[in-house]
Amino acid sequence: MVDEAANPALGAVSDQYVQNVLEAERDPEAFWLAQARRLVWHSEPSHASRSDFTGDVRIAWYEDGRLNVAENCLDRYLLTQPDKAAVIWEGQEDGHRTVLTYRELHARVCRLANTLRRLGVSKGDRVAIHLPMVVEGVVAMLACARIGAIHVVLFGGFSAEGLAERLRDSQAVLVITADVARRGAKLIPSKTTMDEALDACGPECAVRKVLVVAVTGAKVPMQAGRDLSYEAEVALEMPDCPVEVMDACDPLFLLYTSGSTGRPKGVVHGSGGYLVWASFTHQTVFNSQPDDIFWCTADTSWITGHTYVVYGPLVNGGTIMIYEGLPSWPAPGRWWDVIDRNGVTVFYTSPTVIRAAMREDDHVVESRSLASLRVLGTVGEPISPEAWQWFHDKVGRNCCPVADTWWQTETGGVMITASAGKVPGRPGAAGLPLPGVQVELLTPAGAGQEQPVVEGAGEGLLCLSSSWPGQAMTLWQDHERFRQTYFTTCPGRYFSGDGARREADGYIWITGRVDDVVNVSGHRIGTAEIEDAIATDHEVVESAAVGIPHDLKGQGLVVYVVPREEGVLDTARVRKVVADSVGRYAAPEKVYVVRDLPKTRSGKIVRRLLRKIAAGELENLGDLSTLSDPDCVQALIRQVAEQQ
Ligand code: WTA
Repeated sequence: MVDEAANPALGAVSDQYVQNVLEAERDPEAFWLAQARRLVWHSEPSHASRSDFTGDVRIAWYEDGRLNVAENCLDRYLLTQPDKAAVIWEGQEDGHRTVLTYRELHARVCRLANTLRRLGVSKGDRVAIHLPMVVEGVVAMLACARIGAIHVVLFGGFSAEGLAERLRDSQAVLVITADVARRGAKLIPSKTTMDEALDACGPECAVRKVLVVAVTGAKVPMQAGRDLSYEAEVALEMPDCPVEVMDACDPLFLLYTSGSTGRPKGVVHGSGGYLVWASFTHQTVFNSQPDDIFWCTADTSWITGHTYVVYGPLVNGGTIMIYEGLPSWPAPGRWWDVIDRNGVTVFYTSPTVIRAAMREDDHVVESRSLASLRVLGTVGEPISPEAWQWFHDKVGRNCCPVADTWWQTETGGVMITASAGKVPGRPGAAGLPLPGVQVELLTPAGAGQEQPVVEGAGEGLLCLSSSWPGQAMTLWQDHERFRQTYFTTCPGRYFSGDGARREADGYIWITGRVDDVVNVSGHRIGTAEIEDAIATDHEVVESAAVGIPHDLKGQGLVVYVVPREEGVLDTARVRKVVADSVGRYAAPEKVYVVRDLPKTRSGKIVRRLLRKIAAGELENLGDLSTLSDPDCVQALIRQVAEQQ
């Protein structure tokens, strides 16, 4: 049982919050069953969790409950608040602004849901959504949910090959894309990139129809019989559409993310548990109020966009803000203007955005009012104490709580945070586990060895010892990979891939990934993915990608390549290979051409050394005696220095 003596941080925490933590500890089943009443069910669940982290691993929440997610986000509010704004959308061009009430959003979702059904999409089919930050992105997700189709939102920054890989893996039957997307001064050719992706998909492609949203109205090639105008199709349909009643464990969406090995993983989230988690965390973390204008700046192709642009705020009947453009285009301070113009009350963004804003003259932020803000939040990467303080002082004007939030695609929603108004924030620390979240830190150990749990203050692998409603259920068509990836490093527990440190009073600091995942501006990039891409270049014998600290992006990607012919390699080509195969966002910061990579005697690349050399931390390279050729290190340092 949690008490103040065991967890002194709770001393400064609000009574209600402590009460929730205690209740969730004492009787998790009853606590989570009570939380399920946040939703409207066609058939109420009789139990909460039937999850098991051992054996084959099974994640199952509210199993015998039946519901529809879109109905929970829309229809229930048609009765109580049909004219309340559900979405406020602002475009990056001056004067572009749309407000949709709950009634209007419901009508749009129904029209598209009817269209999808008419085009042959049925329950369980996958629908790929490839759109910039426009209202249709939200409409598309909810329309899928309404008819029980599984949405797969794809990032606009993926290359054609990156898209093709995900279309093949998910076997999506229909794609919703844009003609062209705006990104500051640039135009992104969404449709033609999708065309290339569909060509690249080849015979394994299951896509039958492509709906094209006219975002800019540009003329784009349309393939007869396959491509259809989104606007023309939805105009044919009625603004009402019966819902598909789903089992709580039917998948709501799959979302691709990177891991430490090979190809991207399709993380699968269920319906009932995920939505309870979205509702519970959105309310608890941000102390959400009915009149909030909630702005989560994440792209909808990210889990943060799923849970806190769309599902969390809408299932709780809130108003969401969506802005199409970049923070500082056409001029610095653009996002502060969006806050002022729309009266945003909760602003949830990333450390990358804050670091970029800190570099601008303070006058930019100080010249705006920002008086509507009530709560601030950050997510995606560790936030330094300096950035936290700047955010708190300059954006929050010293009076808004800042909730840093640690979580992952796989956790569905926030897990560790300083919940606004309930848990005092601490610059640089993520905070405390939410009620019902069982964090355990384990000391790293070799295979088969004991891994004692760190009690009290200390550092270790960040694990969760029991399931929570928002937990991903599996990886798309690869449950064994799910089990191996998350449940074998620390048997009987979910291992996050992150390291963490706990203070004596319970506050948790995230120390970063301990696996081969690099976090560039919040983008999770698997180093294996990068190396696999480079391996397709015949001029390269071998490569190794590592992450190093980067002032603006948090981490930057550095690649070492060994050329087939000594000294001869065009580094621009290596960057292009990565951009073409994964996406431009993953192109390495720097490519070093070297003669050899440092390896252990068993042939494993020693990445620790490569990270230190690339970061210029040459003082303490650690034990070199396990290397097969310790002399290669000096040569490596010299070659890198020559190319810096
Ligand atoms: C990192 C994003 C420190 C972490 C919601 C995690 C963080 C990965 C934080 C998940 C934070 C996320 N402090 N690190 N507040 N939030 N991370 O799946 O390494 O895109 O494992 O989910 O981002 O990234 P993902």
